Amino acid sequence: MADGTLRALHLLHGVNLDMLGRRDPEHYGAVTLAELEKLVRAHARGLGFETHAFQTNHEGEMVERLHEIAVAGADALLINAGAWAHYSYAIRDALEMIAAPIAEVHLSTIGEREEWRRHSVIADIATVRVSGKGSQGYIEALDALAAKLDAPAAGRQTL
Ligand code: DQA
Repeated sequence: MADGTLRALHLLHGVNLDMLGRRDPEHYGAVTLAELEKLVRAHARGLGFETHAFQTNHEGEMVERLHEIAVAGADALLINAGAWAHYSYAIRDALEMIAAPIAEVHLSTIGEREEWRRHSVIADIATVRVSGKGSQGYIEALDALAAKLDAPAAGRQTL
């Protein structure tokens, strides 16, 4: 930001995303979570964000992390909830308490895969939604979050 203060970005990875690099490359590419985080951190920094990253395979841990973020406050949140996106009302309820703009990202094209993946229970509370663009989708989501913060009147975006 102009005065040098960094904005807080929470980067949350849900269930099974720690296994990137070993999951089906046709859907998820070859990138590992560590590589993906490095990419996101660097791009986010250029947009004036400091990234706070978290991954868990435990739904309750993700809910508790979201509670902490809701209480402490954040400037932006980017989440790939993995399979939780399709059914976890607990994670949805916790996300609803976050005042900051939320980006929902999926590496694969969830809208064109199995029927059960086509629905996201967090879709309508996300300001930005990106799917099917691999790691590049995270970059696009960051750009959209930054644009949203810089011009708050901008509406919901699906990329
Ligand atoms: C995913 C898509 C989900 O359907 C799946 O369960 C994942 C990853 C993606 O990034 O494409 O774990 O969120």
